[in-house]
Amino acid sequence: MTAVGIDAMEIWTGKLKLDLAETFAPAQGDDPGKYTKGLGLRASSFPDVYEDIVTMGANAAHRLMERKGLTPEDIGRIDVATESAFDNSKPVSTYIAGCLEQVYDENFHHANKGERKFACISGTQSLDDAYNWIRAGRNRGRAALVIATDTALYARDDPGEATQGAGAVAMLVDEDPNLVELSTEQGYGSADETDFLKPNQQFPSVDGKRSVNVYLARMREALEDFAEVAGDIHPGDYEMIPFHTPFPGMVRKAAALGYRHIIRGTDVGDLMAEEIGRQPMRSDFETDDEFHAAIKEYTDALTETERYQDWYANSIEPTLEISREVGNWYTGSVHIARAAGLKHARENGLDLDEARLLVASYGSGAQAEVHAETVVPGWEEEIGALDIDEQVRNRYDLSFAEYEQVHDVHNHETETDVEEFTAPENEFAFDGWGRMGERKYRYVE
Ligand code: CAA
Repeated sequence: MTAVGIDAMEIWTGKLKLDLAETFAPAQGDDPGKYTKGLGLRASSFPDVYEDIVTMGANAAHRLMERKGLTPEDIGRIDVATESAFDNSKPVSTYIAGCLEQVYDENFHHANKGERKFACISGTQSLDDAYNWIRAGRNRGRAALVIATDTALYARDDPGEATQGAGAVAMLVDEDPNLVELSTEQGYGSADETDFLKPNQQFPSVDGKRSVNVYLARMREALEDFAEVAGDIHPGDYEMIPFHTPFPGMVRKAAALGYRHIIRGTDVGDLMAEEIGRQPMRSDFETDDEFHAAIKEYTDALTETERYQDWYANSIEPTLEISREVGNWYTGSVHIARAAGLKHARENGLDLDEARLLVASYGSGAQAEVHAETVVPGWEEEIGALDIDEQVRNRYDLSFAEYEQVHDVHNHETETDVEEFTAPENEFAFDGWGRMGERKYRYVE
C-alpha cells in the first residue's frame, strides 16, 4: 500500500505577543508562576489589526506552495479547520483560495473546498478527510492542502484568557510523504459534552475545570480504543507523543494518565510496581471518591519516579516548546506539537528515520482521537525549512493597554479603530468589507 501522510508543513504565528509573566500577570494581580509553571505558558500570540484566520491561513499556505514549487494545478482539495469562522455559509477555504489566486496565474476552480468543525480536533479530522480522499483514489494525482487556523480568544477576565493564541498551520497531504506517514489504525473517545462551546457567539462559554476532566476522560477512551485495533501500547514503542496542547499544564496531566495506562501489563509496569506499588483498581475500593483519591496518590508518586521523568523529558517535553511561546491555536495546536517535537529532534541530532509518533488530538464537545505516525526520511529537511523561531522572536511585544485594544479590535461586537503595530510585507492582509458584508483581502508587497 502506498504511504499517505504529511509531505510538508508551514506555520504562521499572529504577529503580536502578550508576555504572560511580565505583562498579563501583574495586570491581573497574579503570581507569574501561575502562568509559567502552572499553565506552562510564557506568552500568547495575537493577530495584528490586519490579520485574521484567512490571512494567517493563506500566508501559511502560500509559503508552503512556494517552498514546494506548487501551483494551484497541483492541489485538488483545500480543507480548512477552524473554530473561529465568521460566516455560517461561505467556508474560509474559499476566502483562502481567493487570496492565493491573487498571486498565481492559475485558479482553484477544480479544487474541492470545505470547512470542518469539531472544536480543536477538526484539524486532525481534516487530515483524515484528505488521507481518505487520496486512499480512495479520487485525487487524480493531486495533493490536498489542509489548513488549521484560529484566533483563540476568550472574553476578557474569563479564566481561559490566559491560554489565548492565534496562528495557522498549513499541511500538504500526499502520497509518498516527506514528513510523516499516517497509520490506518485510529482510536476514538467521543461523547456529547457541554464543557466548551460557542452557541452563535464569538467567545466560548467554558466550564474550565470540567473541560480538563472531559479531555482526560475522552483521551483515556481513545487510547483504549486505539489499543483494541493496533494492539497493546508499550511506552518504548513511540519516540514522541504530541498531544493537543491548550496549555502545557494540560498535557502534563494527560501524559501522566496516558503513561499510567500504557505501562499496564508491561515490564515497565512491573518495575514501577516494585518501586511505588501496583496501580489502584476500582474493585479494591468501596466508593468512587476513595478510588479517585488513591489514583491521585499513585499518579503523584508515579510522576516523581526517575523512569517517568526520563520518559516525559524525551517523549513529551519537546512537543511543548512552540506552544509555550504562542498559547492555544485550537485546531492547529496538536500540529504545532508534532512540529515542535520534530524540530527538537533535528536540533539535537536525533535520528528519527522510521521512528513512530503517537498523535493524540482532542476537541471539546467532546472527542479525542489517537493514531500513529511514522517519521519518514526527508523529515529533517522539511522541519529545517520552518522559520517559526524567527517569527516568534520578531513579534511585537504588547503593553497591557495595547493588548486591551487588540482584544477589542478582534471582538466582533465592538468597533475600534487602532493603528497596526507591525507593517505587512509580502503577505495577505485584511482590506475592509465588501458590499455583501464579505471580508476583502489584498497581497501586500
Ligand atoms: N505557581 C505555580 N503554579 C501555580 C501558581 C503559582 N503561583 N498558581 C496557580 N498554579 C497552578 C495551579 O495549581 C494549577 O495547576 P494544577 O491544575 O496542576 O493544579 C494551574 O496553575 C492553573 O491554575 P488554576 O487552576 O487556578 O487556573 P484557573 O482556574 O484560573 O484556570 C483553566 C485554569 C480552568 C484551565 C483555564 O485556563 C481555562 O478555563 N482554560 C480554557 C479551557 C481549557 O483550555 N481547557 C483545557 C481542556 S479543553 C481543551 O483542551 C479544548 C481547548 O483547546 C479549549
